[in-house]
Amino acid sequence: MPPPLHVTFAAGSAGAWRIDRIDAVRGEPLPVAERLAVIEAASAAEMSTWTLRGVVSNTRYTNRDEVSDLTTRQEGLGRPASTRAALIPISKSEAWWALAQDERRAIMEERSHHIAIGLDYLPAIARRLHHSRDLGERFDFLTWFEFAPEHEGDFNKLVARLRQTEEWRYVTREVDIRLTMA
Ligand code: HEM
Repeated sequence: MPPPLHVTFAAGSAGAWRIDRIDAVRGEPLPVAERLAVIEAASAAEMSTWTLRGVVSNTRYTNRDEVSDLTTRQEGLGRPASTRAALIPISKSEAWWALAQDERRAIMEERSHHIAIGLDYLPAIARRLHHSRDLGERFDFLTWFEFAPEHEGDFNKLVARLRQTEEWRYVTREVDIRLTMA
């Protein structure tokens, strides 16, 4: 089994991505920075303004049919046309974490349709979910998305739909960071 993929998002003066804006959707914002480096390692990134770390993990809630649909429809990161990206770090409340696995699944998919909504936007939007909570980080999740400039409107609609769901009532902190490969 390959070792888990650790990913470090380091904001500062260096990195392939230019930070266009940082919006605090809920809770505390993150400091302004010019550029973002996405490093596929548990790097120290000492020169950075802020650093967020996560690990790519196994799925928790996705059922067999959904895994099959996702695998068929999704495309990977690093497509040449995907010159826009979003990094959306998210934390959920203690009430969320106190729920049982089946209760979280019911909220996320049966009642909020997170995966069904997300599938509408594939393959235009490429994604990778990073878990941070068990690393003792300040966010529970670091969500990363890449898309072509012409799909930015679709991405905004997707985010707006998710933010109206029951699942999002458990979100205590969310920062929406938009980037351009430039
Ligand atoms: C989790 C799909 C967009 C935030 C998940 C999971 C799937 C998924 C399948 C569950 C993983 C598991 O089983 O553990 C999608 C698809 C999207 C999309 C297909 C379309 C591009 C988004 C967006 C956001 C987001 C735009 C943020 C604004 C999250 C978070 C989790 C998650 C925070 C972890 C939830 C938890 O474990 O409590 N997504 N998603 N997703 N997604 Fe999405």
